[in-house]
This record gives sequence, structure tokens and C-alpha cells, in this order.
Amino acid sequence: MHSIIKVQDLGKTYDSGFTALNNISLEIKRGEIFALLGPNGAGKTTLISIICGIARATSGNVLADGFDIVLNYREAREKIGLVPQELTNDAFESVWSTVNFSRGLFGKAPDKAYIEKILRQLSLWDKRNAKMRELSGGMKRRVMIAKALSHEPDILFLDEPTAGVDVELRRDMWEMVRELRESGVTIILTTHYIEEAEEMADRIGVIRKGEIILVEEKSALMDKLGKKTLSIHLQCNLNAIPSELSAFNLTLDQEGSYLHFSYDSTESDRVAELLAQLNTLEIGIKDLNSSESSLEDIFVDLVKEA
Ligand SMILES: Nc1ncnc2c1ncn2[C@@H]1O[C@H](COP(=O)(O)OP(=O)(O)O)[C@@H](O)[C@H]1O
Ligand SMILES: [Mg+2]
Repeated sequence: MHSIIKVQDLGKTYDSGFTALNNISLEIKRGEIFALLGPNGAGKTTLISIICGIARATSGNVLADGFDIVLNYREAREKIGLVPQELTNDAFESVWSTVNFSRGLFGKAPDKAYIEKILRQLSLWDKRNAKMRELSGGMKRRVMIAKALSHEPDILFLDEPTAGVDVELRRDMWEMVRELRESGVTIILTTHYIEEAEEMADRIGVIRKGEIILVEEKSALMDKLGKKTLSIHLQCNLNAIPSELSAFNLTLDQEGSYLHFSYDSTESDRVAELLAQLNTLEIGIKDLNSSESSLEDIFVDLVKEA
């Protein structure tokens, strides 16, 4: 099966001289939900803007369903719908005319039945005559999606679809994205929320400082990332980790007053085992503290590994 998007050796240096993308190569499979995960400033929007033909690459090329985004711009662009990071709307237009107008921009013949279908799918049908300025933030976002889908693209890009959105709306958005995928659309979303990538994606690509540092199936990545740390503040300092505890992944801090236990989030019964062992060895505990790896830790880890 051939990839629906193929990015090859893509580079982008802005006029300021800043290199935002460095030799990016990436393939998106037809029908998948792909999450591009990375901190602010990593280059997510730059990458999406190039694929969607809004910005120009400095080097490399991109194929969208086999069409080169520069040489076959029209064909490539027709395959793609984009929901940009910044919401832009014409406040005085109705939902219905806004979405129909977007379709017209792609040179597609009007198709009221299709527009009705997507408005219904996005729960916007009742609002079709409302003016954009009358809509809530969540509804406006839905209209942005309807606009992006108006010309029947096979590929939908969502740039930070839930940044600054409340929890309920975020769930709605996730549900909507899943339904779109069911209808056969390939979805690429960018996010800096690891929970979002975890919730939504089939595969995850991590981007940092303009480089893709990893692309993996979500399940494999989550196994790798789902690390927890239990910090044990000891009553008496230790000189070394007792050999009886060698089966546990432990580190001792320099003063010997803290033991740090790293474990996989799937094996929490190991915590009880460790505490029982400490009890047997009569190692007293002052305090316990448990933490999960944050996105930042994960990036630090990944970069170290790379
Ligand atoms: N027009 C521009 N000119 C110069 N630098 C830019 C421009 N747009 C973005 N950048 C820089 O490129 C980097 C990547 O930005 P962006 O792609 O928006 O990241 P992300 O979407 O991951 O937050 C950032 O350091 C940003 O400041
Ligand atoms: Mg961005």
C-alpha cells in the first residue's frame, strides 16, 4: 500500500536565516490518524504549511497522493483540507455561505447535498443560517473543519485542533475526528499535548527543533513512555543500594537519602514488592513521592537516546 503523503528531505530556512525544518522525511499511511507531537516552536506549523502549499520549502519535496505539491500544485491541493492553528472567519457571513464559498474556491461545482452531509456530521446543520459572529468558539472550530472538508479532500490536516479548548470540547473534537476517519479521511494532527496523541493517534511522530526524532506506532511508544518514578525519602542515609534490591531499577542520590525507583506504569505491583523488601531490610521511610514522566521529561529522554 503506498503512502498518501510522502515527505522527502524537506528543509525550511526562513528569510531571517532561521532553519525551522532540517531534512524531514516522513510518510503518512492512507486512512490513519497521525499525530505530530512536539513542543511550541518545534516546526509543526511550518511543516504543515509547506505540505498544504501555504509556505515554500527551501529543499526537498512532498507528494500528496502521488502529486508533487509544487509541480502538480492544483491536484495536490485538491486532495488536502487544512484547519489552521489560527481561526479566521468572516464574522458577517452565515455558516452555510461560508462553507459553500470555500468549496467554490477549489473550483468545485456546488453540491448542496454534500455540504448538508458535512454540516450534519459536524452538528452544524441547525446553525446553518447563523452568522459566524453569533457562534461559540467550539462552533466556530466546527465551521473551520466544515470549510476544510468542503471540497471533499482525502487528507485532513488539523493544526493544534484543541489548543486553548476546554476539556468537554476537546472530547467532542476527538470524537469528530474519529468519525471523519471512519468516513475514509486520512488525518494528520499536530499537538503539544501528549494525552491528545495518546487518545487519538494510530502513529505518532515526535518533532523537536525542526527534526523528526522518532516515528512509532502509538502502542509501542506508550509502552516506552509510560514510565513512573517513586522517590523514597529514607530515614537513615545509605552508602549504597543493598544487593537484596538489585532486582529493582533503583538509583540512590548523592547523599544517600533518596532512593528513586523507575517502573513501568503497567507494573505498579512492583511498588508494593519494593516497599515490602525495604520493610524486611528494616530500611525506614520518611516520605514517598510518585511522579509520571511529563512531556518535557519524555523529550529530554528521547533526545538523549537520539
Ligand atoms: N515567518 C517566520 N519567520 C521566521 N521564523 C519563523 C517564521 N514562522 C515560524 N518561525 C520560527 O520557526 C520555528 C517553528 O515555528 P512553528 O512551525 O510555528 O512551530 P510549532 O508550530 O511547532 O509551534 C519557531 O522557532 C518560529 O519562531
Ligand atoms: Mg504551530
